[in-house]
Amino acid sequence: MSTNEYLKQLRSDFSKQSLSEDDIDHNPFTQFNNWLKEATESNVLEPIATTISTVSKYGQPSSRVVYIRDIQENGFVFYTNYGSKKSHDLEMNPKSCMNLFWPELERQIRIEGIIEKVDSSISDEYFNDRPKASQIGAWASQQSQKLASRAHLEDKVNELTNQYANKKVPRPENWGGFILVPHYFEFWQGRKSRLHDRIAFSKDEDVWKIERLNP
Ligand SMILES: Cc1cc2nc3c(=O)[nH]c(=O)nc-3n(C[C@H](O)[C@H](O)[C@H](O)COP(=O)(O)O)c2cc1C
Repeated sequence: MSTNEYLKQLRSDFSKQSLSEDDIDHNPFTQFNNWLKEATESNVLEPIATTISTVSKYGQPSSRVVYIRDIQENGFVFYTNYGSKKSHDLEMNPKSCMNLFWPELERQIRIEGIIEKVDSSISDEYFNDRPKASQIGAWASQQSQKLASRAHLEDKVNELTNQYANKKVPRPENWGGFILVPHYFEFWQGRKSRLHDRIAFSKDEDVWKIERLNP
């Protein structure tokens, strides 16, 4: 079978669960936490991995996966290099969107909002808890910049490993957290024959408005 034939014939029909206005929590953060708990209990492979999209100053969107490392009262925190492509995009345009897909539960969550840097004390605390090899990696990698060769990176890691052999690794200034503060959530539950359940939350002043969307 050719790839294109395969693409045309592949069909998943979703039927595991449903999502109704009666079941959903009226606070989207609580709803997210409820689903995340179910995802971890169901052994979803990478439950905290989320796609995050940014838009460049030229209006070009790009997406990549990051780990959600903290859920605060007002948003979702991830850590990255502040010199990376995504960070440059966010400096120019702080609007962003996360998307999580948990195939094992036939669920998708979309979260749209505005991104800001977290307090440096929060980044310090998280960085200090990371394994030493990851801390050294944060120093070694000029994330998203061109790299002459793999050997170049590995030499740098070896050099830094020696430099910090008996020392605490400080957080690089260009490495830290961002928080996405949402104004929109959508919870998607796959249903039979593409008649999926979609429940959206939009923030109006300080109130979350709940609406069902067509699949
Ligand atoms: C499962 C998974 C988790 C990842 N987690 C992170 C993360 O938490 N932070 C990060 O900067 N990159 C993470 N990455 C790498 C990013 O996807 C991406 O390659 C990197 O951040 C550079 O993106 P950019 O050039 O668009 O800024 C992860 C990749 C995968 C596949």
